[in-house]
Amino acid sequence: MDRRLLNEKLDALPRLPLSEYPTPLELLPRLSAELGRQVWIKRDDQIGPGLGGNKTRKLEYLLADAQQRGERKIATFGGLQSNHARLTAAAANRLGIQTHLFYFERCPTRLCGNLILNRALGARMHFFPLGGGGGMSLEASIRLVHWLAWLRLGPHYFIPVGGHNVRGCLGYVRAALEIDEQARSIGIQDAHLVLAAGSGGTLAGLMAGLALIESPLRLVGIDVGKLWKGFPASIAGLAGDICTFLGETHTFSPEQVPLVEKRYVGQGYGQPSPEGLGALGCLASLEGILLDPVYTSKAFAGLLDLSRNNKLGRGEPLIFLHTGGLPALFAFEERQLGQC
Ligand SMILES: Cc1ncc(COP(=O)(O)O)c(C=O)c1O
Repeated sequence: MDRRLLNEKLDALPRLPLSEYPTPLELLPRLSAELGRQVWIKRDDQIGPGLGGNKTRKLEYLLADAQQRGERKIATFGGLQSNHARLTAAAANRLGIQTHLFYFERCPTRLCGNLILNRALGARMHFFPLGGGGGMSLEASIRLVHWLAWLRLGPHYFIPVGGHNVRGCLGYVRAALEIDEQARSIGIQDAHLVLAAGSGGTLAGLMAGLALIESPLRLVGIDVGKLWKGFPASIAGLAGDICTFLGETHTFSPEQVPLVEKRYVGQGYGQPSPEGLGALGCLASLEGILLDPVYTSKAFAGLLDLSRNNKLGRGEPLIFLHTGGLPALFAFEERQLGQC
């Protein structure tokens, strides 16, 4: 699809601007010297209200839809350190909409990180200690929480975990156009674009967007959670649905989803991994940029390991998508950080 046509289609849909775009694409000179190839960072950690992050782009479409429908309550869910939950509360406050956040763990005795920010933002938090969604498909857990939210709240606007639906992921179709444009303007259009995959919506939106414009950028999603049964199939299905919604048919098989599953998760979702903390220390000490312990540090550990083991092409440039999440840094004990 022609880039201009895709832009027009996206512009024709209701969107609530929550930030300035494009976000910066910055060269990391010291890390590039260390890895022997150009490494760039795309700063989606710098967007949005309430300390921001990648979910800003999805919420622009979701909240515009909620506003158009005249909704007064929004419900969503996630892990205890969900950035999506915190950002939803912050962005919904701008519209005077009350946010309800559902968690499937016990309410911690001491709130920290994102949970404190939710409190400050006035979000209502509901704790159901049923355990994480481990072993369920993403779609099944979304249906289950939607049903629970109905029982608890009655009519409301429901946002799936991570903003994982076609409308939300349009934000990352838009980002695909933006990144492709930036990469072409600096001559790195053949780069590998590495990012964290939690609910997989950011990856699905980028897959759809890059496929629609036939971009040569190559995606590498790093699974940070081992959370969902049939995860690649659900990302493939969503990417296909996004393309159909935008007027072009693309079918993605689960095998075509560029996802490194399980390898960099460590003990599990929400638990910092030694490799992730090492990667966090590496980027912080070389470039003065912080990562979060739940998502971006694990994805960055994947980038470092795959690059050092010659698994990311033949020295083409790398772009790391920094998706934010820094409030979770304040939810963990001090641990030994590694160096490069
Ligand atoms: C900081 C951060 N990075 C990455 C992700 C993963 O995004 P997605 O759920 O779209 O895969 C999340 C999701 O919550 C996040 O909070």
